[in-house]
Amino acid sequence: MTRALVTGAAGFVGSHLVDALLRSGHQVCGIDNLITGDLENLTEARKSAAFHFVQGDVAADPDALRTRIEREASAAEVIFHLASPASPIDYAALPIETMLANSRGTQFCLEAGKHWDARVLYASTSESYGDPLEHPQRETYWGNVNPVGPRSCYDESKRFGEAMVAAYVRLGGVDARTVRIFNTYGPRMRKNDGRVVPNFIAQATSGQPLTIYGNGAQTRSFCYVDDLVRGIILCAESDRTAGLVVNLGNPEEHPIGDFAAIVCDIVGVALRIESRELPPDDPTRRCPDISRARELLGWAPLVSLREGLQRTIDAYRTATVVPR
Ligand SMILES: NC(=O)c1ccc[n+]([C@@H]2O[C@H](COP(=O)([O-])OP(=O)(O)OC[C@H]3O[C@@H](n4cnc5c(N)ncnc54)[C@H](O)[C@@H]3O)[C@@H](O)[C@H]2O)c1
Repeated sequence: MTRALVTGAAGFVGSHLVDALLRSGHQVCGIDNLITGDLENLTEARKSAAFHFVQGDVAADPDALRTRIEREASAAEVIFHLASPASPIDYAALPIETMLANSRGTQFCLEAGKHWDARVLYASTSESYGDPLEHPQRETYWGNVNPVGPRSCYDESKRFGEAMVAAYVRLGGVDARTVRIFNTYGPRMRKNDGRVVPNFIAQATSGQPLTIYGNGAQTRSFCYVDDLVRGIILCAESDRTAGLVVNLGNPEEHPIGDFAAIVCDIVGVALRIESRELPPDDPTRRCPDISRARELLGWAPLVSLREGLQRTIDAYRTATVVPR
């Protein structure tokens, strides 16, 4: 049994990761300051004796937080750093908190990793590639990022976090790796978090037209959360990923317009669209090259877009509480 620490545990991805780790017999300590997450996401986890929740800020006092974790849970053997606002609406409202979660928060995890001799996995993002000029994006691509644009608090702080991981690896003493996560969707995304999947589902299920920015030709690739979580765990378990960056996402690209049509088809409503102007710095194409994950981890997404959307829509329909 492994003792795992998950930061951002009450968030969308973090809570699914906690559930998966508990299912496979790990002891899990989850940290979250609930800035964008919701304890509702941890309802199942909190019933388990193998789970301990610490409400705390990974960007605040690192020594106090580490001591508190040691006292209330125990030193971890593997640390998953997911704490950070992640949706454009959230990081636009919380730019400083976002930058601190990915700078000081990442350093907290790396220092804790050094102190406990624990493995560290840092959750970065496809936003590290900015508005990419290469398609699909391989890990070796350096990206095309506007350092002062409206998304820069997120993109640049994730890039800073990646640089911090690379520096600790270079200095030695920490077994760390970075995953660049591409658009992921599934149950527990907040309906109002501004990301395209919950937006479309909320609009389609309430009979509203679907909002499309620009002409709908921009593409996205969507990965179902269970596939992502499986990739994150494999990546943390693998010795072969030490010091590396690994893309995790679904390489199947869909123009946003086509995606809107699929959502409406599954929900069973006619497609109606409301067009809005494309926001600045919105990437026109984003698609992962997952050769590295395939080769090192034998990982590839398994859940089809229709299947994943069906599961997500079913979960939204049966949810009694809409988080926040
Ligand atoms: N969901 C995606 O499609 C996606 C894509 C790329 C990268 N990621 C990355 O995965 C991670 C999780 O994303 P998500 O979609 O679950 O977002 P989320 O907002 O649902 O979860 C983030 C969690 O981190 C917590 N948090 C934020 N700052 C914190 C701090 N300083 N201390 C403690 N907790 C803090 C929030 O309260 C929240 O529970 C993020 O790092 C994000 O950048 C997600």
